[in-house]
Amino acid sequence: MGRYTTTYSQLDWVNRMSSSINEIILKAISLAEPTAAQAKRGNQIASRLLSKVRRLARTHHLHPKVIMGGSFAKGTWLSDSLEMDIFLLFPKEIDAKELEREGLLLAKKSLVGNRPRLRYAQHPYVEAFIQDFRINLVPCFETKLGDWKSAADRSPFHTLYMNKHLTQKLKKEVRLLKMFMKRVGVYGSEIKVQGFSGYACEVLILKYRTFLSTLENVSKWKEREVVCIEPSASTKADQVKGQLILLDPIDSNRNLGMAISPQKIGQFVLSSGSFISLPGMRFFRSNRRRSSKLEQDLLRQSAIGILLSHSSRSPDVLWGQLKKSGVNIRERMLNEGFEVARTIIASDETHRSALLYLLVNQTLSSLVVKDGPEYFRIKESRKFIEKNSGTGSISWIGGTGRLKALKFRKQDLGLKSFLEELFSSKTSGISLGLRKEAQNSEILMGEDLLTAGRRESWLSERLQDLVSTEDL
Ligand code: CTP
Ligand code: CA
Repeated sequence: MGRYTTTYSQLDWVNRMSSSINEIILKAISLAEPTAAQAKRGNQIASRLLSKVRRLARTHHLHPKVIMGGSFAKGTWLSDSLEMDIFLLFPKEIDAKELEREGLLLAKKSLVGNRPRLRYAQHPYVEAFIQDFRINLVPCFETKLGDWKSAADRSPFHTLYMNKHLTQKLKKEVRLLKMFMKRVGVYGSEIKVQGFSGYACEVLILKYRTFLSTLENVSKWKEREVVCIEPSASTKADQVKGQLILLDPIDSNRNLGMAISPQKIGQFVLSSGSFISLPGMRFFRSNRRRSSKLEQDLLRQSAIGILLSHSSRSPDVLWGQLKKSGVNIRERMLNEGFEVARTIIASDETHRSALLYLLVNQTLSSLVVKDGPEYFRIKESRKFIEKNSGTGSISWIGGTGRLKALKFRKQDLGLKSFLEELFSSKTSGISLGLRKEAQNSEILMGEDLLTAGRRESWLSERLQDLVSTEDL
């Protein structure tokens, strides 16, 4: 009897759980889907703009084709990201320079009066705003499938493929997934995020069919998981590099997972598991919490920030330079004996950025071990031995055949003075594009860093992230 009672109550629990999942999903869909007003406005802007660009294209000597692309064309755009990507397809016979010149000229002309701005992703394009819609006019080549010449040429084929395979129901599932991924912080293929692109989300839905089943499957992803929707492509998976093998259905030589950082894959896997075991609207809302005393103390005692002022440049370029600098400076600190636990980059994406580090130690022992070359790199080995032959150090060949030296520090350098010295040298590790401006950087710790965070909002969130447990 007892067993039956348990079974009934379990069933009851499962039913209640699934009805609550349904409620959550319905609520989330209503947040993700554009409102009727947004859709109407979008369609009006699109049809006016498309006919204007097409009119200009007809009189252009290269007669480029004009097509709507991206999530607006696929019906997978989100209510909180109003954007249209319009592609200008030029004949593939012209060269990249001509494409850039003619494409950008036509794009700017089409958006005259809307304050067009030249921007760079993997390639240049023109951006403007019409009401609350961001408009991207992207020049590319009109090529045959697989015959791509520029980074954007695949895009029209992506649109065609998705429009063929995504039903209305699947589009809803895509929107839910995108929204979820956005809120848990793994959405966006730009260098800043190195997460999942909109197209990658669409491929996942085509594979797993629903939002829930995607999360269920993703929560069980293994190392080098292979996700492939075109069976013929599966044979390629072994030859593809990367932590996640998410094959592009229109080009099995391309792994969409390659551009996604292991950190973002991990966040997606663990957050998917969390949603499955305890679903809730918290996964669809942005919620910032106040920092705890422990986090504040950690920030005050163990964080350091390098604040940079710089000229403005394209976000992809800026984030590339900042990330590279962040890794290099971390390496320099580690080499010196400062143990860096966590690195975070912050930027207002115009003139101010920061490299933020959480450190285990900020002072050094008076001894330091330097790793040298392997013994068979004779020239380098000799150089290393010579360099370390004076007083104040001893050297030897380590167990793995690599030369080593133990040095006695002349004076104990604190972290701040080490960084100040590093920044005045030519080999600071700051990426070339930021190096000149980085000479005026500020190195802040403790109360000074907290004060800077209170002053500059772009910094405060990331400082908080530096000492917070990730929501996983
Ligand atoms: N694209 C591009 N250059 C741009 C903008 C977009 O080449 N400046 C291309 C991308 O290669 C992609 C497509 O346009 O294939 C759409 O890009 P994106 O806007 O990032 O993705 P969406 O699917 O539109 O998703 P979202 O809803 O996030 O905008
Ligand atoms: Ca888009």
